[in-house]
Amino acid sequence: MSPRIDRIPAGIVNLADYERLASERVDSATWAWLDGAAGDELTRRANREAWDALWLHPRVLRPLAHGHTRVHLFGREWPQPVLVAPVAYQRAVHPDGEWATAWGAAAQGAGLVLSLQASAPLESVARAMQADAGRGPLWMQLYWHPDRGWMQELLARIEAAGYEALVLTVDAPVSGVRDRERRAGAGVPPEVRSVNLVDRPRAEARGAGPAASHVFDHLALAAPGWDDVAWLASRTRLPLLLKGVLHADDARQAQAVGAAGVVVSNHGGRTLDTAVPTAWALPRIVEAVGDAMPVLVDGGIRRGTDVLKALALGARAVLVGRPIVCALACAGALGVAHALRLLRDELEAAMALCGCATLEQIDRAVLWSEEPAH
Ligand code: FNR
Repeated sequence: MSPRIDRIPAGIVNLADYERLASERVDSATWAWLDGAAGDELTRRANREAWDALWLHPRVLRPLAHGHTRVHLFGREWPQPVLVAPVAYQRAVHPDGEWATAWGAAAQGAGLVLSLQASAPLESVARAMQADAGRGPLWMQLYWHPDRGWMQELLARIEAAGYEALVLTVDAPVSGVRDRERRAGAGVPPEVRSVNLVDRPRAEARGAGPAASHVFDHLALAAPGWDDVAWLASRTRLPLLLKGVLHADDARQAQAVGAAGVVVSNHGGRTLDTAVPTAWALPRIVEAVGDAMPVLVDGGIRRGTDVLKALALGARAVLVGRPIVCALACAGALGVAHALRLLRDELEAAMALCGCATLEQIDRAVLWSEEPAH
C-alpha cells in the first residue's frame, strides 16, 4: 500500500491554518468530535493561553553553526522532539487514516503514538512507519482492560509488531462530558471502527437499576489502579509511560511502580473541564521526577515556540494532537509531513533566536523571568 497523492493546500503556513481549513472540510459531526472538548472547553482554551503567556528571552551572537533538533530518549536518537499524539479513528477524516499519519511522521523524523482506538490494524501501521529508515520512534497507546489475559495477548501483538514503548492513558477512566459532541449527535461515522479491539471481552457491568451510578457502579469497575500499572510494567520489555499525569505525587507513584516516563496531559481538555493547563503542571512534575525519568507534555502545542517553551520547562519531547489530524484531513500523508515540517522549522528558528544550537542548551533561562538570575 502507498499513500494517495494529495496536494498541500494553498495558503497554509502554520498549524492553525490546517485547523481552520479542516473546520471547513470535515463534516460537522466529525468536527465536533475532533475539535471539541469537555464542558465549556475552558481547559482546551487554557492549554493554549498558558503557552502564550510565557515570553521568551532572546540571546544574540551565540555560535549556532551545525546546530540541530536531535533528541535522545529510551536509548535511541531521532530528528525532532515531537511525536504525533494518539488520536482515535483517523480514517474518519481521511481514507488513508493512521497509515498516512505514520508515513508523514516517518518522513519528518517525528515519533508516532498509535491510539489503541485506531481505525487501522496496529501491525500494518507499524509497517508503514518502519518503511522509512530516518523515522522517529513508534509507540503504542493503551487503555486498560481488566481482562489481564487479553491485555497480555495485546502486549504480545504490540511487541511482535515492533513498537518501542507503551503509553498507558490514565486520565480517562470515565468519558469526558463533551457538550459540543453531544449536541452534534453522531460523532465519527459507524463504519470507522476500533479494529484492534474487535475481540475484546466486554467489561462486566454490575449494579443495574435506577439508583446505580454509571460512573461508580459501571465504568469504575473496569478502571485501572496502581497495582495494574505495576503488573503491566512487569509484563513487558518495553518502557511504559503513563499519559495524563498532572499531579507531582502521581508522577512519583508512577516511578515507584515501574513506569519509565510520564506524559503531562489533560487529554487536550477532553476529559475534565477546568483541569489545570499542562504548561502550569509541567514544572511541578519535572521537579518531582524529571531527574529520574523523562517527562513529556501535550495540550495546545501549535508553534515551534511552544515546543521550545515546553523544553525550557523541562519536557524532553512534546506530543501534538488535533493539528496533525487536521493536516491529515486536508492533505493526507503529505499534509501530516508538511505540518510536522512547519513545526520543526519554527522550532529551529526559535532556538536560533534564543541562542540555542541544540536541545541540551535549552533551559529555564530561555524564558523571561521577573527575577533576573544575574
Ligand atoms: C484524543 N486523545 C487521545 N488520547 C489517548 O490517549 N487515546 C486516544 O485514543 C485519544 N483520542 C483522541 C481523539 C481526539 C479526536 C483528540 C482531539 C484527542 C488525546 C490526545 O492524545 C492528546 O492528549 C491531545 O489531543 C493533545 O492536545 P492537542 O494537541 O490536541 O491540543
